[in-house]
Amino acid sequence: METIYLDNAATSFPKPPAVARRMAEYLTAVGATVNRSVYGAAQEAGAVALRLRQRICRLFGTDDPTRVILTPGNTWGLNLVLRGFLRPGDHCLVSAMEHNAVMRPLQDLAAAGVTFDRIPCDGAGRLDVSAVEPLLRPETRLVVLAHGSNVSGTVQDAAAVGEICRRRGVAFCLDAAQTAGHLPIDFRALGLSALSAPGHKGLLGPSGIGVLVLDPAFAAQLTPVVTGGTGSASDSELQPPYLPDRFEPGTPNVPGIYGLEAALDYLETVGIDAVATHDRRLTARFLAGLRAIPGAALVGPDGTEGRVGVLSVDFPGLDNAVAADRLEQEFGILTRCGLHCAPAAHRTLGTFPRGTVRFSLGPFNTEAHVDAALEAIAAVSAG
Ligand code: ALA
Repeated sequence: METIYLDNAATSFPKPPAVARRMAEYLTAVGATVNRSVYGAAQEAGAVALRLRQRICRLFGTDDPTRVILTPGNTWGLNLVLRGFLRPGDHCLVSAMEHNAVMRPLQDLAAAGVTFDRIPCDGAGRLDVSAVEPLLRPETRLVVLAHGSNVSGTVQDAAAVGEICRRRGVAFCLDAAQTAGHLPIDFRALGLSALSAPGHKGLLGPSGIGVLVLDPAFAAQLTPVVTGGTGSASDSELQPPYLPDRFEPGTPNVPGIYGLEAALDYLETVGIDAVATHDRRLTARFLAGLRAIPGAALVGPDGTEGRVGVLSVDFPGLDNAVAADRLEQEFGILTRCGLHCAPAAHRTLGTFPRGTVRFSLGPFNTEAHVDAALEAIAAVSAG
């Protein structure tokens, strides 16, 4: 039986062929690390790293590649922001739809004297923007927002939140885990202080690499969480003050740099608008088909506006884990079930602790994949 991969919110698959090809080229024919040595291969690797930063700038509407920090992943980038910025006594706002990459570090910080509040969201996961300002306190220094929910696909009005943060002098960090590579994102237009994204989801690269784009004024207030060698300022035992070195200690994931650079080359060629249109078309098809299946209920926005193709389904008559297992065993449909590392989001959506079965689309999915998933959902929900 052929399988149909619908777990792109966990990690995208397949990747553009050039990703694996470029990683293999690096591992077999280049081999050198970046920012250390000066022979030709090392310079070539350095040029690829610079090209990657430049592509990230183009993707997110910024212009300074030194403000692109290459991280080991989105969780790392979010930890860098939360732990590097918040101090005991500070207050932080998050949405009621965050995943544990935000909530676990924030709970650690709460134990050390940081306070936080959750901005309420409705039953479809949509943020109540009017609730943001009343929750701000004199000691509020940071708002962190999941741009797109990894449970319901709900996309928040980041521009409205950014406008409030700019006006009130509060830093704003956007977690673009489910939107980077899926939707156009403009760092400046959204008024961001920081944007964190994984390389392995919508950006179509390998796992083990992510990006954190920083506003310089925000970066100046950020303390590195990990320090170490950077290949620069080697006469000093202190971490260099300048970007990106300040936040990039240790040898980076150079195969990942090659893979992600190739993935972004692909995305630039296809265009984010085309990816978004494709996602909307498949999402509309999925939603229309699901409405006709009585034994399966959508969790999240029932329309293509303000969402991405992350589609959670509840099988009321069944254990959702059993439903997901049957989808795979009988139909080859690969999903993720459970709480998706996001208990807060499930509480907001009313699906805690039951969880959901999540179908998440990627640019290589087709209408035939959606139709096969719908047929399988109908069969499983019928018992
Ligand atoms: N955050 C990833 C997911 O939603 C791992 O599956």
